[in-house]
Amino acid sequence: MFTTLPRTEIQSQKLPYDLVSSIEQLKKDLNAVILAHYYQEPDLQDVADYLGDSLGLAQAAAKTDADVIVFLGVHFMAETAKILNPHKQVLLPDLNAGCSLADSCPPAEFAAFKAAHPDHVVVSYINCSAAIKAMSDIICTSANAVKIVNQIPIDRSIIFAPDRNLGRYVSEQTGRDMLLWQGSCMVHEIFSERKLVELKQRYPEAQIIAHPECEPPVLRHADYIGSTTALLKYVQSNPCPTFIVVTEEGIMHQMRKLAPEKKLIPAPPEHDCACNQCPHMRLNTLEKLYLSMKNRSPEVTMDESLRQAALYPIQRMLELSA
Ligand code: 13P
Ligand code: SF4
Repeated sequence: MFTTLPRTEIQSQKLPYDLVSSIEQLKKDLNAVILAHYYQEPDLQDVADYLGDSLGLAQAAAKTDADVIVFLGVHFMAETAKILNPHKQVLLPDLNAGCSLADSCPPAEFAAFKAAHPDHVVVSYINCSAAIKAMSDIICTSANAVKIVNQIPIDRSIIFAPDRNLGRYVSEQTGRDMLLWQGSCMVHEIFSERKLVELKQRYPEAQIIAHPECEPPVLRHADYIGSTTALLKYVQSNPCPTFIVVTEEGIMHQMRKLAPEKKLIPAPPEHDCACNQCPHMRLNTLEKLYLSMKNRSPEVTMDESLRQAALYPIQRMLELSA
């Protein structure tokens, strides 16, 4: 579906000796801003002008006066930046950086689901395609989902899409019954309850902190559940010296930088793999970042009528989260 620079093409383009200073120079030449999600590789986090979770990144994209937005994240995030900035160029270093959660909600099937429940308000997690956003009444992120759902009139029924785990968590927090689309994130579903319990036995003083995209058997053990930014703030502000971190491993780079005195233990996935790293996020690299800025490609583009339809529910979210 997407096109990206093939490996051979990357290899055929001469890379500068100092990639980071070349990226800094290109940033000035293009009047570009680099927005990065916490799940990017540490070297990418370190060159970003703004680093944040999905909500922070959408807010930063809405505010920027740069001419070019370079997005270090996945496609739905760059797409959101484009929806908010139709006249700016939005670059994504690897257009194949998708999302298993967004893919778990195909537009045609979701349209049929929505049509079967015409009285429902549709709340969609920002981790979805522009086509799903266009079918939604309001967008939310993991940072504001509870606040958004709490503002929906009590007499209205709700569809929540696409993440069933976040939906179940929000339903518990708000006491609202919601019809959940059965999508999920391949990274947050991979954690093993058995291994988590074993780890807690080895480190009884540790607090378990988890992202709400995790499954209920894991969330039941959590001392604290929150969005990526909320987990980062919790580690900084809570006096506990040790944390077992149940989310994508990339966030631990900022946790180590901002709370170097804390012991951080990544929660183990079910298998002996690096499955707690999002393979989509990790498609972006420093080399591809440099080449995307130098070539001003690959670029995120979108049909204007789709963009306009997807804009309103995002704007509602930004207004309600201000
Ligand atoms: P947040 O950035 O809202 O914490 O979401 C995590 C995530 O999975 C992003 O893809
Ligand atoms: Fe999608 Fe999960 Fe990767 Fe986030 S961590 S981009 S939700 S697959």
